[in-house]
Amino acid sequence: MTEIYKGLAGVTVDETTISTINVEQSTLMYRGYPVQELAKNCRFEEVAFLLWHGELPTTEQLKTFEKAERQKRAISEDLIDVLRKFRKDAHPMDTLRTAISFIGTQDPRWDDSCPEGLLEKALNMMAKIPTIIAADHRLRHGQEPIAPRDDLTMAENFFNMYFGEVPAPSVVKAFDASLTFYAEHSFNASTFTARTIVSSLSDIYSGVTGAIGSLKGALHGGANEAVMHTLLSIGSADKAEAWMREQIANKNLVMGFGHRVYKNGDSRVPYMTEIYHEVAKELDGQKWVEMTNVMNKIMVDEKGIHPNLDFPVGPTYYMMGFDIPVFTPIFVMSRITGWTAHIMEQLANNKLVRPLSKYTGHSQRSVLPLEKRAA
Ligand code: COA
Repeated sequence: MTEIYKGLAGVTVDETTISTINVEQSTLMYRGYPVQELAKNCRFEEVAFLLWHGELPTTEQLKTFEKAERQKRAISEDLIDVLRKFRKDAHPMDTLRTAISFIGTQDPRWDDSCPEGLLEKALNMMAKIPTIIAADHRLRHGQEPIAPRDDLTMAENFFNMYFGEVPAPSVVKAFDASLTFYAEHSFNASTFTARTIVSSLSDIYSGVTGAIGSLKGALHGGANEAVMHTLLSIGSADKAEAWMREQIANKNLVMGFGHRVYKNGDSRVPYMTEIYHEVAKELDGQKWVEMTNVMNKIMVDEKGIHPNLDFPVGPTYYMMGFDIPVFTPIFVMSRITGWTAHIMEQLANNKLVRPLSKYTGHSQRSVLPLEKRAA
Protein backbone atom coordinates (compact mmCIF):
# COMPACT_ATOMS: atom_id res chain seq x y z
CA MET A 1 0.00 0.00 0.00
CA THR A 2 1.52 3.32 -1.09
CA GLU A 3 1.28 5.89 1.69
CA ILE A 4 0.35 9.38 0.54
CA TYR A 5 1.60 12.44 2.41
CA LYS A 6 -0.72 15.15 1.13
CA GLY A 7 1.03 18.52 1.18
CA LEU A 8 4.16 16.61 2.34
CA ALA A 9 2.76 16.98 5.88
CA GLY A 10 5.02 15.28 8.39
CA VAL A 11 7.67 14.38 5.77
CA THR A 12 11.33 15.17 6.47
CA VAL A 13 12.97 15.73 3.07
CA ASP A 14 16.50 16.92 3.93
CA GLU A 15 18.82 18.23 6.63
CA THR A 16 19.43 21.92 7.32
CA THR A 17 21.66 23.95 9.63
CA ILE A 18 19.86 27.25 9.00
CA SER A 19 16.90 27.17 11.37
CA THR A 20 14.79 24.84 13.47
CA ILE A 21 11.33 24.89 15.01
CA ASN A 22 10.77 23.10 18.31
CA VAL A 23 7.07 22.31 18.25
CA GLU A 24 6.74 21.28 21.90
CA GLN A 25 8.42 24.43 23.19
CA SER A 26 7.09 26.65 20.36
CA THR A 27 10.56 28.01 19.67
CA LEU A 28 12.31 29.04 16.47
CA MET A 29 16.09 29.35 16.25
CA TYR A 30 18.20 30.77 13.45
CA ARG A 31 21.63 29.09 13.52
CA GLY A 32 21.04 28.27 17.20
CA TYR A 33 19.81 31.72 18.32
CA PRO A 34 16.20 32.13 19.53
CA VAL A 35 14.50 34.42 17.04
CA GLN A 36 13.00 36.71 19.69
CA GLU A 37 16.50 37.37 21.09
CA LEU A 38 17.68 38.28 17.61
CA ALA A 39 14.67 40.57 17.10
CA LYS A 40 15.32 42.32 20.41
CA ASN A 41 19.08 42.69 20.18
CA CYS A 42 20.12 42.77 16.52
CA ARG A 43 19.43 44.81 13.43
CA PHE A 44 18.05 42.96 10.41
CA GLU A 45 21.38 43.34 8.59
CA GLU A 46 23.08 41.32 11.38
CA VAL A 47 20.46 38.60 10.99
CA ALA A 48 21.01 38.48 7.22
CA PHE A 49 24.74 38.04 7.84
CA LEU A 50 24.00 35.29 10.38
CA LEU A 51 21.76 33.37 7.99
CA TRP A 52 24.32 33.48 5.18
CA HIS A 53 27.55 33.04 7.15
CA GLY A 54 26.38 30.95 10.12
CA GLU A 55 27.69 33.40 12.77
CA LEU A 56 26.68 36.87 13.93
CA PRO A 57 29.03 39.54 12.54
CA THR A 58 31.74 41.31 14.50
CA THR A 59 31.71 45.12 14.39
CA GLU A 60 34.23 45.08 11.53
CA GLN A 61 32.35 42.40 9.58
CA LEU A 62 29.08 44.28 9.97
CA LYS A 63 30.68 47.50 8.73
CA THR A 64 32.00 45.79 5.60
CA PHE A 65 28.73 43.94 5.03
CA GLU A 66 26.58 47.06 5.38
CA LYS A 67 28.87 49.07 3.14
CA ALA A 68 28.53 46.44 0.41
CA GLU A 69 24.74 46.29 0.84
CA ARG A 70 24.38 50.07 0.69
CA GLN A 71 26.48 50.24 -2.50
CA LYS A 72 24.12 47.84 -4.26
CA ARG A 73 20.82 49.57 -3.43
CA ALA A 74 20.37 51.58 -6.65
CA ILE A 75 18.39 49.98 -9.48
CA SER A 76 19.05 50.57 -13.18
CA GLU A 77 17.09 53.04 -15.32
CA ASP A 78 16.11 50.03 -17.46
CA LEU A 79 14.48 48.40 -14.45
CA ILE A 80 12.70 51.64 -13.53
CA ASP A 81 11.41 51.75 -17.12
CA VAL A 82 10.10 48.21 -16.71
CA LEU A 83 8.32 49.25 -13.50
CA ARG A 84 6.78 52.23 -15.34
CA LYS A 85 5.26 49.87 -17.90
CA PHE A 86 3.26 47.80 -15.41
CA ARG A 87 -0.47 48.34 -15.06
CA LYS A 88 -1.11 50.56 -12.03
CA ASP A 89 -3.37 47.90 -10.54
CA ALA A 90 -0.94 44.99 -11.01
CA HIS A 91 -0.28 43.28 -7.69
CA PRO A 92 3.06 44.43 -6.19
CA MET A 93 4.03 40.76 -5.67
CA ASP A 94 3.70 40.24 -9.43
CA THR A 95 5.71 43.36 -10.26
CA LEU A 96 8.38 42.34 -7.74
CA ARG A 97 8.49 38.80 -9.13
CA THR A 98 8.99 40.20 -12.64
CA ALA A 99 11.59 42.71 -11.44
CA ILE A 100 13.71 39.93 -9.88
CA SER A 101 13.43 37.95 -13.09
CA PHE A 102 14.54 41.08 -14.98
CA ILE A 103 17.54 41.57 -12.68
CA GLY A 104 18.50 37.98 -13.56
CA THR A 105 18.53 38.88 -17.25
CA GLN A 106 20.79 41.88 -16.50
CA ASP A 107 23.40 39.70 -14.79
CA PRO A 108 25.88 38.31 -17.34
CA ARG A 109 27.08 35.86 -14.68
CA TRP A 110 23.57 34.61 -13.82
CA ASP A 111 24.74 31.00 -13.81
CA ASP A 112 27.74 31.52 -11.50
CA SER A 113 26.83 29.18 -8.67
CA CYS A 114 30.12 29.12 -6.76
CA PRO A 115 29.60 30.10 -3.07
CA GLU A 116 31.03 33.65 -3.56
CA GLY A 117 28.92 34.17 -6.69
CA LEU A 118 25.73 33.08 -4.91
CA LEU A 119 26.48 35.31 -1.90
CA GLU A 120 27.08 38.29 -4.13
CA LYS A 121 23.79 37.75 -6.00
CA ALA A 122 21.91 37.21 -2.72
CA LEU A 123 23.26 40.49 -1.31
CA ASN A 124 22.44 42.25 -4.57
CA MET A 125 18.82 41.11 -4.37
CA MET A 126 18.54 41.96 -0.65
CA ALA A 127 19.86 45.46 -1.39
CA LYS A 128 17.63 46.09 -4.41
CA ILE A 129 14.29 44.61 -3.31
CA PRO A 130 13.40 47.56 -0.99
CA THR A 131 14.26 49.98 -3.81
CA ILE A 132 12.06 48.06 -6.25
CA ILE A 133 9.10 47.92 -3.83
CA ALA A 134 9.32 51.63 -2.98
CA ALA A 135 9.84 52.75 -6.61
CA ASP A 136 6.94 50.59 -7.79
CA HIS A 137 4.74 52.00 -5.02
CA ARG A 138 5.56 55.61 -5.90
CA LEU A 139 5.17 55.12 -9.65
CA ARG A 140 1.72 53.56 -9.26
CA HIS A 141 0.73 56.63 -7.18
CA GLY A 142 2.01 59.03 -9.85
CA GLN A 143 5.19 59.98 -7.92
CA GLU A 144 8.80 59.69 -9.01
CA PRO A 145 11.01 57.14 -7.19
CA ILE A 146 13.24 58.41 -4.37
CA ALA A 147 16.86 57.31 -4.75
CA PRO A 148 18.30 55.11 -1.99
CA ARG A 149 20.61 56.72 0.60
CA ASP A 150 23.76 55.11 1.89
CA ASP A 151 23.71 56.83 5.31
CA LEU A 152 20.57 54.97 6.47
CA THR A 153 19.98 51.42 7.70
CA MET A 154 17.99 49.14 5.48
CA ALA A 155 14.75 49.76 7.41
CA GLU A 156 15.28 53.55 7.62
CA ASN A 157 16.15 53.75 3.94
CA PHE A 158 13.04 51.79 2.98
CA PHE A 159 10.79 54.19 4.90
CA ASN A 160 12.56 57.12 3.26
CA MET A 161 12.21 55.73 -0.26
CA TYR A 162 8.54 54.80 0.32
CA PHE A 163 7.24 57.83 2.28
CA GLY A 164 9.96 60.43 1.75
CA GLU A 165 10.75 60.48 5.48
CA VAL A 166 11.99 58.27 8.30
CA PRO A 167 9.53 57.79 11.21
CA ALA A 168 10.29 57.74 14.96
CA PRO A 169 13.07 55.32 15.99
CA SER A 170 10.54 53.14 17.84
CA VAL A 171 8.57 52.62 14.63
CA VAL A 172 11.75 51.83 12.67
CA LYS A 173 12.76 49.34 15.37
CA ALA A 174 9.32 47.68 15.23
CA PHE A 175 9.59 47.34 11.46
CA ASP A 176 13.16 46.05 11.68
CA ALA A 177 12.08 43.41 14.23
CA SER A 178 9.27 42.28 11.92
CA LEU A 179 11.90 41.74 9.20
CA THR A 180 13.90 39.54 11.58
CA PHE A 181 10.81 37.46 12.34
CA TYR A 182 10.02 37.05 8.64
CA ALA A 183 13.58 36.18 7.59
CA GLU A 184 13.57 32.41 7.85
CA HIS A 185 11.28 29.50 8.74
CA SER A 186 12.80 26.17 7.65
CA PHE A 187 11.11 24.19 4.83
CA ASN A 188 7.99 26.33 4.32
CA ALA A 189 6.29 26.28 0.89
CA SER A 190 8.26 29.14 -0.72
CA THR A 191 11.63 27.99 0.64
CA PHE A 192 10.98 24.45 -0.51
CA THR A 193 9.96 25.89 -3.91
CA ALA A 194 13.29 27.74 -4.13
CA ARG A 195 15.22 24.60 -3.14
CA THR A 196 13.25 22.49 -5.62
CA ILE A 197 13.93 24.92 -8.47
CA VAL A 198 17.68 25.07 -7.94
CA SER A 199 17.87 21.31 -7.33
CA SER A 200 17.66 20.94 -11.14
CA LEU A 201 20.76 23.21 -11.26
CA SER A 202 18.65 26.14 -12.37
CA ASP A 203 19.94 29.58 -11.28
CA ILE A 204 19.39 31.59 -8.07
CA TYR A 205 17.16 34.19 -9.80
CA SER A 206 14.82 31.44 -11.02
CA GLY A 207 14.72 30.03 -7.48
CA VAL A 208 13.82 33.41 -5.97
CA THR A 209 11.29 34.23 -8.71
CA GLY A 210 9.50 30.94 -8.05
CA ALA A 211 9.64 31.49 -4.30
CA ILE A 212 7.96 34.89 -4.66
CA GLY A 213 5.15 33.23 -6.62
CA SER A 214 4.71 30.69 -3.84
CA LEU A 215 4.81 33.26 -1.02
CA LYS A 216 2.07 35.31 -2.68
CA GLY A 217 -0.65 32.80 -1.83
CA ALA A 218 -3.09 33.56 0.99
CA LEU A 219 -2.26 30.32 2.83
CA HIS A 220 1.38 31.48 3.01
CA GLY A 221 2.76 35.06 2.95
CA GLY A 222 -0.37 36.58 1.46
CA ALA A 223 -2.04 36.01 4.83
CA ASN A 224 -0.67 39.30 6.21
CA GLU A 225 -2.67 41.19 3.58
CA ALA A 226 -5.71 38.96 4.10
CA VAL A 227 -5.65 39.68 7.87
CA MET A 228 -5.90 43.40 7.26
CA HIS A 229 -8.73 42.99 4.76
CA THR A 230 -10.55 40.94 7.41
CA LEU A 231 -10.07 43.60 10.11
CA LEU A 232 -11.28 46.34 7.78
CA SER A 233 -14.34 44.32 6.81
CA ILE A 234 -15.23 43.65 10.47
CA GLY A 235 -14.91 47.38 11.07
CA SER A 236 -15.01 47.68 14.86
CA ALA A 237 -14.21 45.67 17.99
CA ASP A 238 -17.87 45.36 19.05
CA LYS A 239 -18.59 43.39 15.84
CA ALA A 240 -15.59 41.06 16.18
CA GLU A 241 -17.17 38.45 18.46
CA ALA A 242 -20.26 37.87 16.30
CA TRP A 243 -18.11 37.78 13.18
CA MET A 244 -15.72 35.22 14.64
CA ARG A 245 -18.52 32.99 15.92
CA GLU A 246 -20.13 33.04 12.48
CA GLN A 247 -16.85 32.00 10.79
CA ILE A 248 -16.37 29.19 13.28
CA ALA A 249 -19.96 27.98 12.89
CA ASN A 250 -19.56 27.98 9.10
CA LYS A 251 -16.13 26.32 9.31
CA ASN A 252 -14.58 29.21 7.38
CA LEU A 253 -10.84 29.83 7.43
CA VAL A 254 -9.85 32.90 9.42
CA MET A 255 -6.67 34.34 8.00
CA GLY A 256 -3.76 34.80 10.38
CA PHE A 257 -4.61 31.71 12.44
CA GLY A 258 -3.21 28.20 12.33
CA HIS A 259 0.07 26.75 11.20
CA ARG A 260 1.22 23.51 9.62
CA VAL A 261 4.06 23.03 12.10
CA TYR A 262 3.19 24.91 15.31
CA LYS A 263 0.19 23.51 17.07
CA ASN A 264 0.53 25.30 20.44
CA GLY A 265 1.26 28.77 19.12
CA ASP A 266 3.73 30.44 16.79
CA SER A 267 6.99 31.29 18.61
CA ARG A 268 7.22 34.65 16.83
CA VAL A 269 3.82 35.87 17.92
CA PRO A 270 4.29 36.90 21.60
CA TYR A 271 7.07 39.44 20.96
CA MET A 272 5.58 40.61 17.65
CA THR A 273 2.28 41.18 19.48
CA GLU A 274 4.08 43.31 22.09
CA ILE A 275 5.57 45.32 19.24
CA TYR A 276 2.18 45.64 17.54
CA HIS A 277 0.60 46.93 20.77
CA GLU A 278 3.42 49.46 21.26
CA VAL A 279 3.03 50.70 17.68
CA ALA A 280 -0.75 50.97 18.24
CA LYS A 281 -0.12 53.27 21.25
CA GLU A 282 2.23 55.40 19.21
CA LEU A 283 0.14 55.52 16.04
CA ASP A 284 -3.36 55.67 17.52
CA GLY A 285 -4.37 52.14 16.58
CA GLN A 286 -6.13 50.97 19.75
CA LYS A 287 -9.15 50.01 17.65
CA TRP A 288 -7.18 47.22 15.92
CA VAL A 289 -5.77 45.95 19.21
CA GLU A 290 -9.24 45.66 20.73
CA MET A 291 -10.51 43.85 17.66
CA THR A 292 -7.64 41.38 17.41
CA ASN A 293 -7.78 40.67 21.17
CA VAL A 294 -11.40 39.56 20.81
CA MET A 295 -10.64 37.43 17.73
CA ASN A 296 -7.62 35.84 19.36
CA LYS A 297 -9.50 34.87 22.52
CA ILE A 298 -12.45 33.35 20.69
CA MET A 299 -10.30 31.33 18.28
CA VAL A 300 -8.12 29.91 21.05
CA ASP A 301 -11.06 29.22 23.41
CA GLU A 302 -13.37 27.73 20.80
CA LYS A 303 -11.00 25.95 18.40
CA GLY A 304 -7.65 25.82 20.17
CA ILE A 305 -6.13 27.43 17.05
CA HIS A 306 -3.50 30.10 17.73
CA PRO A 307 -2.58 33.19 15.69
CA ASN A 308 0.46 33.06 13.41
CA LEU A 309 2.96 35.86 12.74
CA ASP A 310 0.80 37.45 10.04
CA PHE A 311 -1.92 38.25 12.58
CA PRO A 312 0.01 40.94 14.51
CA VAL A 313 2.05 42.00 11.46
CA GLY A 314 -0.92 42.91 9.22
CA PRO A 315 -2.30 45.70 11.44
CA THR A 316 1.23 46.82 12.38
CA TYR A 317 2.15 47.52 8.74
CA TYR A 318 -1.25 49.13 8.18
CA MET A 319 -0.72 51.56 11.07
CA MET A 320 2.73 52.38 9.71
CA GLY A 321 0.96 53.56 6.55
CA PHE A 322 1.91 50.90 4.01
CA ASP A 323 -0.60 49.99 1.30
CA ILE A 324 -2.07 46.55 2.03
CA PRO A 325 -0.80 44.92 -1.23
CA VAL A 326 2.74 45.92 -0.20
CA PHE A 327 2.65 43.80 2.98
CA THR A 328 3.71 40.57 1.26
CA PRO A 329 6.45 42.27 -0.80
CA ILE A 330 7.83 43.53 2.55
CA PHE A 331 7.87 39.88 3.64
CA VAL A 332 9.99 39.18 0.51
CA MET A 333 12.36 42.01 1.50
CA SER A 334 13.18 39.92 4.54
CA ARG A 335 12.68 36.30 3.40
CA ILE A 336 15.12 36.82 0.50
CA THR A 337 17.79 36.11 3.14
CA GLY A 338 16.30 32.77 4.20
CA TRP A 339 15.53 31.68 0.63
CA THR A 340 19.04 32.40 -0.59
CA ALA A 341 20.62 30.75 2.47
CA HIS A 342 18.61 27.64 1.56
CA ILE A 343 19.55 27.87 -2.13
CA MET A 344 23.22 27.94 -1.09
CA GLU A 345 22.71 25.01 1.27
CA GLN A 346 20.84 23.00 -1.37
CA LEU A 347 23.52 23.56 -4.00
CA ALA A 348 26.34 22.71 -1.59
CA ASN A 349 24.94 19.18 -1.30
CA ASN A 350 22.46 18.86 -4.12
CA LYS A 351 20.03 16.09 -4.98
CA LEU A 352 17.35 16.65 -7.60
CA VAL A 353 13.93 16.96 -5.91
CA ARG A 354 11.71 14.42 -7.61
CA PRO A 355 9.00 12.76 -5.49
CA LEU A 356 6.67 10.00 -6.63
CA SER A 357 2.91 9.99 -7.03
CA LYS A 358 0.27 7.28 -6.85
CA TYR A 359 -1.53 6.99 -10.18
CA THR A 360 -5.33 6.90 -9.86
CA GLY A 361 -6.25 7.56 -13.51
CA HIS A 362 -7.46 5.25 -16.33
CA SER A 363 -6.00 1.80 -16.79
CA GLN A 364 -4.28 1.25 -20.17
CA ARG A 365 -6.45 1.83 -23.25
CA SER A 366 -5.95 2.18 -27.02
CA VAL A 367 -6.11 5.38 -29.06
CA LEU A 368 -9.12 5.36 -31.43
CA PRO A 369 -8.85 7.15 -34.79
CA LEU A 370 -10.39 10.65 -34.63
CA GLU A 371 -13.57 9.70 -36.58
CA LYS A 372 -14.33 6.81 -34.22
CA ARG A 373 -14.20 8.79 -30.97
CA ALA A 374 -17.54 9.41 -29.25
CA ALA A 375 -18.70 13.05 -29.38
N1 COA B 1 -9.30 29.25 10.56
C1 COA B 1 -10.24 28.32 10.85
N2 COA B 1 -9.97 27.01 10.95
C2 COA B 1 -8.70 26.63 10.75
C3 COA B 1 -7.67 27.54 10.46
C4 COA B 1 -8.01 28.89 10.36
N3 COA B 1 -7.09 29.81 10.06
N4 COA B 1 -6.53 26.88 10.31
C5 COA B 1 -6.81 25.59 10.50
N5 COA B 1 -8.11 25.43 10.76
C6 COA B 1 -8.81 24.19 11.02
C7 COA B 1 -9.08 23.47 9.70
O1 COA B 1 -10.28 23.88 9.10
C8 COA B 1 -9.08 22.03 10.13
O2 COA B 1 -10.33 21.78 10.73
P1 COA B 1 -11.05 20.33 10.56
O3 COA B 1 -10.09 19.36 11.21
O4 COA B 1 -12.33 20.50 11.27
O5 COA B 1 -11.17 20.10 9.09
C9 COA B 1 -8.04 21.99 11.24
O6 COA B 1 -7.97 23.33 11.74
C10 COA B 1 -6.68 21.56 10.72
O7 COA B 1 -6.30 22.44 9.66
P2 COA B 1 -5.48 22.00 8.40
O8 COA B 1 -5.99 22.78 7.22
O9 COA B 1 -5.40 20.52 8.26
O10 COA B 1 -4.05 22.52 8.78
P3 COA B 1 -2.88 22.72 7.78
O11 COA B 1 -1.66 22.35 8.49
O12 COA B 1 -3.09 22.07 6.46
O13 COA B 1 -2.98 24.28 7.47
C11 COA B 1 -2.63 26.55 7.34
C12 COA B 1 -2.15 25.23 7.95
C13 COA B 1 -1.66 27.63 7.71
C14 COA B 1 -2.67 26.41 5.80
C15 COA B 1 -4.04 26.86 7.88
O14 COA B 1 -3.99 26.96 9.28
C16 COA B 1 -4.61 28.11 7.26
O15 COA B 1 -5.14 28.06 6.14
N6 COA B 1 -4.52 29.27 7.96
C17 COA B 1 -5.00 30.54 7.42
C18 COA B 1 -3.98 31.15 6.48
C19 COA B 1 -2.80 31.70 7.20
O16 COA B 1 -2.93 32.42 8.18
N7 COA B 1 -1.63 31.38 6.66
C20 COA B 1 -0.37 31.88 7.18
C21 COA B 1 0.42 30.74 7.73
S1 COA B 1 1.88 31.32 8.54
